[in-house]
Amino acid sequence: MIRTVIAGIGHYLPERVVPNSELEKLMDTSDAWIQERTGIKERRYGVPHKETTTTMGARAAEKAIERAGINKEDVDMILFATLSPDYFFPGCGVLVQREMGITHKEAPAMDIRNQCSGFVYGLSVADAFIRTGQYKNVLLIGAEMHSMGLDFSDRGRNVTVIFGDGAGAVVLQPSADSGRGILSTHLHADGTHAEELAFINPGCHGGYHLGTEQFGYPQQEYGGIFLTEKMWQDQNIFPNMNGQLVFKTAVTKFPEVIREALQANALNPSDIRMLIPHQANLRISQFVQKSMGLRDDQVWNNIQKYGNTTAASVPIALSEAWESGNIEKGDLVCLAAFGSGFTWGSALIRW
Ligand code: UT7
Repeated sequence: MIRTVIAGIGHYLPERVVPNSELEKLMDTSDAWIQERTGIKERRYGVPHKETTTTMGARAAEKAIERAGINKEDVDMILFATLSPDYFFPGCGVLVQREMGITHKEAPAMDIRNQCSGFVYGLSVADAFIRTGQYKNVLLIGAEMHSMGLDFSDRGRNVTVIFGDGAGAVVLQPSADSGRGILSTHLHADGTHAEELAFINPGCHGGYHLGTEQFGYPQQEYGGIFLTEKMWQDQNIFPNMNGQLVFKTAVTKFPEVIREALQANALNPSDIRMLIPHQANLRISQFVQKSMGLRDDQVWNNIQKYGNTTAASVPIALSEAWESGNIEKGDLVCLAAFGSGFTWGSALIRW
């Protein structure tokens, strides 16, 4: 039986450290509030116009490729998960292909738009392609440059203080050792609350049709296509979040989808060597840990240093846990994520 293994892993974090005290100067918030409600002490921000989601993803991917012991020319497919792409389109998959100079094979590049669950969704897609024998080296990247899309006024404080920039990447390969690799993935979605954690402008829902008069639509005051002048004037151009609803749903769905993965493989929480939860809020992770009956050394938390890096958070945490020697061959690793959509998922990996 063919299984998918993580052959190489890496992450990249921009150098600039932004402590809570810096945000205190920009908006009505406090280090005490941020730490008490989220556990976050600081986050990283990329350098505007020099670094982008694509360039950070490329730096993480270079490490993953090197550690997999392959050349970039060996990559058969690129999967790129992000909610903060360089462009509205095309996606970061083709941009990272160009950035890294791996266009020789004209291998496919696909973007995954599943926000905080993007990396787990991407892992599932890669696993399917590898187990069917279609591709041998799949590069999966999760990267975000949130800092370019946040509202640094008081109005955006509940969202802005949480998010940070960074990237993580893995190279996935087939293995004939059926005792190793991805044991299963479990994906879910419920669009009922799509707008409760969303970045809705720019988008065609509120845009302006340039052929308005000819098509008989009512004349609009402001022009544009996806982004109208009115959206800009109202500053209705930032992400919004119903934090309490997201929190309540997350603490239900995380344990549910972790248990689903364990049950599918006839395993117990005590079998988990390392749970890598999406780093949404330290309180969420602590709640999940308690409800699963896990010890401190079974759960990886780094939100204190990096904030929530959305699609990058699971691969950064996984890479960090592996680099620090906390994940070794044969260990059972559980990945779990929940976020905007709502979408959520889990993956069990025998390292
Ligand atoms: O990756 C998945 C995406 N996100 C999440 O998983 C986030 C899930 N939700 C959360 O983490 C929490 O809901 C937050 C950290 C966002 C907010 O914490 P909370 O304990 O749910 O606070 P709240 O929204 O109920 O707000 C409490 C108070 C409010 O003031 P009033 O109405 O009590 O006067 C807010 O206006 O805190 C205020 N507040 C802030 N105060 C200082 C909101 N943001 C801030 C802030 N600094 N940054």
